[in-house]
Amino acid sequence: MRRIAVMTSGGDSPGMNAAVRAVVRAGVASGLKVYGIRHAYEGLINGEFKRMGPRDVSGILGRGGTILHTARCQEFYEPLGQKAGLTELQTAGINGLVVIGGDGSLEGALALHKKGFPVIGLPGSIDNDIWGTNTSIGVDTALNTILNALDALRDTAASHNRAFLVETMGRQCGYLALMGGILGGAELILIPEVDTGLEEVAQAIDEAYAEGKNHALIVIAEGANLKTTEISKYLEEHPTPYEVRITILGHLQRGGRPTAFDRLLATRMGVRAVEGLLAGESGVMIGLDGRTLTPVPLEEVTGKSRQADLDYFEMAKVLS
Ligand code: ADP
Ligand code: F6P
Repeated sequence: MRRIAVMTSGGDSPGMNAAVRAVVRAGVASGLKVYGIRHAYEGLINGEFKRMGPRDVSGILGRGGTILHTARCQEFYEPLGQKAGLTELQTAGINGLVVIGGDGSLEGALALHKKGFPVIGLPGSIDNDIWGTNTSIGVDTALNTILNALDALRDTAASHNRAFLVETMGRQCGYLALMGGILGGAELILIPEVDTGLEEVAQAIDEAYAEGKNHALIVIAEGANLKTTEISKYLEEHPTPYEVRITILGHLQRGGRPTAFDRLLATRMGVRAVEGLLAGESGVMIGLDGRTLTPVPLEEVTGKSRQADLDYFEMAKVLS
């Protein structure tokens, strides 16, 4: 194997740059020529390859986002688009690829593997919804961003005796809301995995008041069965002792400087991906199992989706 390429795809996550840096530097250290593919599968189809050396990845370890940019590419869902991408790789003489991204991006990686091209995937997504790994690149940073926000919101909520509805990301998986809620001291947490009633939300706020709390924090995953605006409307019509305010954390959670944990995870995974390609591995994602990096077949990863751990959901009830 003489030439490998690396791309970031799907939703960006903090630590993707650290992974790119690790792939480039580990690849060069092993005598490989390394190429960055800009704009994910779209850039692959358009042949957006750039040779990268150690200096091209200087100063990016602590930066969120991705210097390779990311994209979503409709064409790549189709065999014709995948074939076009494959042809570009072959024309450039590249014989190994590292794809850093979420569930969908790993599906794309699997499609290339099935066409006989050596590919290794790395889990990059803030949602922690990727099967086969304890956590993904970016999750820890996003969770810390949420905790900073909840700590700050508690300050103002307690000063004004208010209830805050705080919405986190997480369309299918409630991990961020659940862990954020537990570690940020929420009164109630709403996640996609468990249905909640409007009355339950009002009751949790009433109980907080009855217990003498000077504030209430309700954390809602964006994919929960109740939408934040719906809850707010209900609370307007059924007032509680607190004034209600809404904060939607949104894309704040996707950016920012990666934490030490994410930098280390991304760096280890990037180096491991290069080792894997050199050893002839393909069609796997490098997952974290305990403290060990373990290859998991992409077929298995993409066939399943990871959900929030409901034991934590029960624990949250005890703690609120
Ligand atoms: P994420 O990787 O964050 O889950 P998406 O689901 O949007 O983000 O996927 C990113 C890109 O990966 C898509 O725009 C598409 O180009 C590619 N992709 C997703 N699913 C598939 C699939 N089943 N087959 C081939 N390519 C896919
Ligand atoms: O990265 C995953 C995620 O953060 C989801 O939780 C969220 O719904 C989605 O991305 C939003 O992404 P975009 O705005 O890029 O479509």
